[in-house]
Amino acid sequence: MAMIEGLTHLGMGKLDDGRTLLPRVLPGEEVNVDQDGTVRIVTPSVDRVSPPCRHFKTCGGCAMQHASDDFVADWKQEIVRKAIAAQGLNTVFRDIATSPAQSRRRAKFAGQRTKKGVMLGFYAKGTDTIIAVPDCQLITPGLHDARAALEALIMFAASRKSHVSFTVTETSVGPDISVETEKELTSQLRMDLAVFAQKHGVSRLVWQDEVIVTMNPPAQDFGGVSAVPPAGAFLQATKHGEAVLRDAVIEITQGAKSIVDLFAGSGTFALPLSKTAEIHAVEGEADMIAALDRGWREGKNLKRVTSETRDLFRRPLEPDELRKFDAAVIDPPRAGADAQIATLAASDVKVIAMVSCNPVTFARDAKMLVAHGFTLNWVQVVDQFRWSPHVEVVASFTRK
Ligand SMILES: C[S@@+](CC[C@H](N)C(=O)[O-])C[C@H]1O[C@@H](n2cnc3c(N)ncnc32)[C@H](O)[C@@H]1O
Repeated sequence: MAMIEGLTHLGMGKLDDGRTLLPRVLPGEEVNVDQDGTVRIVTPSVDRVSPPCRHFKTCGGCAMQHASDDFVADWKQEIVRKAIAAQGLNTVFRDIATSPAQSRRRAKFAGQRTKKGVMLGFYAKGTDTIIAVPDCQLITPGLHDARAALEALIMFAASRKSHVSFTVTETSVGPDISVETEKELTSQLRMDLAVFAQKHGVSRLVWQDEVIVTMNPPAQDFGGVSAVPPAGAFLQATKHGEAVLRDAVIEITQGAKSIVDLFAGSGTFALPLSKTAEIHAVEGEADMIAALDRGWREGKNLKRVTSETRDLFRRPLEPDELRKFDAAVIDPPRAGADAQIATLAASDVKVIAMVSCNPVTFARDAKMLVAHGFTLNWVQVVDQFRWSPHVEVVASFTRK
């Protein structure tokens, strides 16, 4: 018998032999590992629960369904607490906000033709085997409803030999579907796909980055302001998570008349913030900036939004460019934003709302701000990646 000593940041259990990692176990559990690798739980943890999804063991989508919500909440907060402690920081933690089950509005499905017809699902962890997930507890009912269309699309997009993948986003005017496939796009196929999109109420169909048809612009509502993100472009994973992040960002920057939104995407924060403040939005992807700008132009009663396509790793906004802003919002990718944080630290900006999907780079960047006179007032963990090891945070920084 052996004991689980703790979890890695990816949720794998660390056996007390110091080397073995096991899935779907919890700290303190006593286990037997058979010769064939089968794990038997001898003494379960009080935090163990029955997985809410019947696909949990086979599907690679979720890692933590065997643990109670309270356990996962504490575990994720602890990951952030340790990351900031490693940088010599400490702060107040607001209550975690966990998105409900069945709220993930975007998913990547895999599909394949089979002897009997088609198979649609997710890849089993670490394999290229597709597992059907008709009762997936993560995705929205709207994404479930799109499955019939995707199954029909497999017939167009996959061969017996090659798989196809679909990135699907729920919108109020039908699923927004991007197809990745090896299949050649002939003019006949193009016509068939347009008919398919109409028949299945697809809002937009994209084939290998090429928009085949937009039946209805797949707009997203960003806190009351609408924009049409480019196909497959970054979007917060759940509407709930987006709302929590947006409310936090609005609260942190409250009273600011002029705000810079760095790594602005398609306007998740810039557009709602423009109800009360002038915004300068900066983002590396030109098509996202175009979506943001169009959303602003078509919006009502918004203050001025200027925007700029710019690589903020190579060309961060300099302190003199930041001078005119009362507050900054910064939401970088996993790598963090050390160059932009350095110029923010050297600027005279006094209020920063930072959103991050990586506790390690968040803590590194927070340390730089604190070293330049900022106080890390509070952190909130926003768990829009329920049952996965992903951790997202929003944090308030101010200085006198
Ligand atoms: C985590 S997303 C946040 C987007 C937006 N704030 C939102 O909530 O929807 C990070 C964004 O940074 C952009 N990005 C990545 N690398 C960049 C770079 N070097 N310069 C500027 N933007 C970049 C991505 O295109 C993406 O839109």
